[in-house]
Amino acid sequence: MRRDSFGSRFGALVAMAGSAVGLGNLWRFPYLVGENGGAAFIIIYILLSFLICLPIFISEFVIGRRSQKNAFAAFRDLSGGSAWRFVGLFTVIVPLIVLSYYSVIGGWSVEYLFKSLSFSFTENASQGAFHTMFSDFVSSTWAPLAGHTLFLLATAMIVIVGIKDGIEKFSKVMMPMLFFMVIAIAIYALTLPGAKAGVDYLFNPDFSKITGKACATALGQAFFSLSLGFGTIMTYASYVNKKENILTQSTATAVSDLMFALIAGVAIMPAVFAFGLNPQSGPGLVFETLPFVFGQMPAGGLIAIIFFVALLVAALTSSISMMEVAVAYLVEEKKFSRLWACITLFAGCWIVGALCSLSFGPLSHIKIDGGSIFDFFDNLSSNILMTLGSLLTVLFVGWKLKKTDIYDEFTNGGTLPLNVRIFGVLWVLIRYVAPVAIIFIFVYGLI
Ligand code: PHE
Repeated sequence: MRRDSFGSRFGALVAMAGSAVGLGNLWRFPYLVGENGGAAFIIIYILLSFLICLPIFISEFVIGRRSQKNAFAAFRDLSGGSAWRFVGLFTVIVPLIVLSYYSVIGGWSVEYLFKSLSFSFTENASQGAFHTMFSDFVSSTWAPLAGHTLFLLATAMIVIVGIKDGIEKFSKVMMPMLFFMVIAIAIYALTLPGAKAGVDYLFNPDFSKITGKACATALGQAFFSLSLGFGTIMTYASYVNKKENILTQSTATAVSDLMFALIAGVAIMPAVFAFGLNPQSGPGLVFETLPFVFGQMPAGGLIAIIFFVALLVAALTSSISMMEVAVAYLVEEKKFSRLWACITLFAGCWIVGALCSLSFGPLSHIKIDGGSIFDFFDNLSSNILMTLGSLLTVLFVGWKLKKTDIYDEFTNGGTLPLNVRIFGVLWVLIRYVAPVAIIFIFVYGLI
């Protein structure tokens, strides 16, 4: 059977950008900026994104496109069947853990979209009322489970259809729409009286705020946002045509991911400041602070709907990429049909996600390592597993694969002059700078 693949350059690009742009940009990035001191954090984030994460992204791209196989088989075949295949297995399993709890937050977006459609964010509700609305919702049993189920079901249904007709088509329609929606909200936010304080907060750095922990958080966020260390980019890259340029595709994805994060910051922070609210409200920023802001703004009801549609779309284009990693593995290695692979993964992720969802309410008494089940999966995957996955990936490309093979893949057999010139720098970044920096920042963040 012929392997499915992306049908066009634009399709491959929006699918990759769709994987990268997600809750990480619209939900996680703004609150991390808020918690870690604003502009200085953003500068560190940009530096780490391009110096460390882009080379890792390119490494994953090279592995995927060279092998034209699922992540497990890619590591197995390119390494000649050595123990590296366990790394491949790791990169297949980790996205499933992430998908399980990502789907819970995706479910919250579903619920908040419904809330915004019924214009629940009213002007006279106090800030406390939104806090109560959110905590009552997440700690209840059925409503969050229903959101989780709907979100995961939507993910599986897109993935079942396939690469070209499912993932690519969905991303092609949704990504441009997402872009316009976020830009529209950002422009609107800038017109609010008092918006300037929010813009200053985002773009006037105070370097005294930078700590080891802030750097580690910025790196973890950059991994998360670019979908690194998880087999996702590798899997998507395996569907990319051999004629495409890895350098331009990777850079375009990294730049669009960064732009989305910054625009999300501009859409959110000025509004938060304009209404005198605290940017440091953590994960509740999008679900507690923003609904209050929407309630206060002129035409806020409409902006709220646009925002939660955008959040949901962004989350879906990412969740499909996580599921595809394991679907590719089950179909190619275990001979599942695509349909059965999706049903199996839906069931597995639903159960783990349900535990995460219930850990805000009925299961909140269960503590793992001092936190809830949800916190445990979130911390484990975004702080440890993703870092480990990224480190192993650069080590694989920098120290195990043949330099000539990487050169060949990166330059399309020496036919791309710009890539030929850049290869030397990239090689040093992949082989030395990225692994050392990852280990250093990881350890520094622990102290
Ligand atoms: N990059 C996605 C986001 O920012 C999350 C993601 C992580 C997607 C890992 C795929 C793999 O929301």
